[in-house]
Amino acid sequence: MKVAISGKGGVGKTTLAGVMARILAKQGYKVLAIDADPDSNLASAIGVDQKKLDSAKPLALMKEFIEERTSSKKGTYGSFFKLNPRVDDIPERFAVDKDGIKLVILGNIQQGGGGCFCPESVLLKSLLSYIIIERDESVIVDMEAGLEHLGRGTAEYVDALLVVVEPGKRSFQTAYQVKRLSQDLGIKNLYIVGNKIMDISDDELMRNSLEGFTVLGTISYNEKVIEADKLGVSPFDIDEKIRTEVGYIIEALRNRVT
Ligand SMILES: Nc1ncnc2c1ncn2[C@@H]1O[C@H](COP(=O)(O)OP(=O)(O)OP(=O)(O)O)[C@@H](O)[C@H]1O
Ligand SMILES: [Mg+2]
Repeated sequence: MKVAISGKGGVGKTTLAGVMARILAKQGYKVLAIDADPDSNLASAIGVDQKKLDSAKPLALMKEFIEERTSSKKGTYGSFFKLNPRVDDIPERFAVDKDGIKLVILGNIQQGGGGCFCPESVLLKSLLSYIIIERDESVIVDMEAGLEHLGRGTAEYVDALLVVVEPGKRSFQTAYQVKRLSQDLGIKNLYIVGNKIMDISDDELMRNSLEGFTVLGTISYNEKVIEADKLGVSPFDIDEKIRTEVGYIIEALRNRVT
């Protein structure tokens, strides 16, 4: 199952990605978790310990490696570079391991005005494309609302795009924007996950505000999730309720995409 997660800032994308990765791994699946948010923090939602994290550098910062793979070093090939760099060894070489999960941190690309066509961007896009199209692990990509790293050719291979919303108009508006982008990219299945739901009226507000969307499941507002964030641990490790709720979401997803 190849899943990308998007939604407005702060709605709980990383929390969902981290807990999903842990549950799938516990169920015995090999998981590749991709942190494609420039402000990378999926590692702590997965529960990677700090020591391991210190040694994990985002790929976008590996200047020499990027230069080598894209043959883009200034003064050697002028301003030309390879558009199909080798990427198949990157998960094994650079991923951080945690309980059956391989985490790859993409990092931040300096975006020019109309998007970036630079060696970093080409390498990260090629990597994501390879991971989504070629690998046979379960893949979870924690993204921004903008779906920046997904190219057309890759997006069609994403089994589902989960758009996380919270009870609030702004996150619903973002869901509509993401839907338009996802249609342009050719993503087949888009589902909503409602997060930080306090009561039935939150649930109704969400469902009534999102016409034409399918709600895959919901996650309750949960103090333990905030506590986990404060402690720098995964909510998976300290709270049964979120494990159960995200477990249902994974089940619902399986019923739809496989
Ligand atoms: N179910 C929940 N109940 C309460 N707080 C939550 C819940 N889910 C997430 N949060 C809190 O909301 C904040 C944002 O969560 P998270 O980092 O997962 O969102 P995000 O969408 O990945 O944010 P960003 O756009 O910054 O990457 C965190 O402090 C997190 O602990
Ligand atoms: Mg995040």
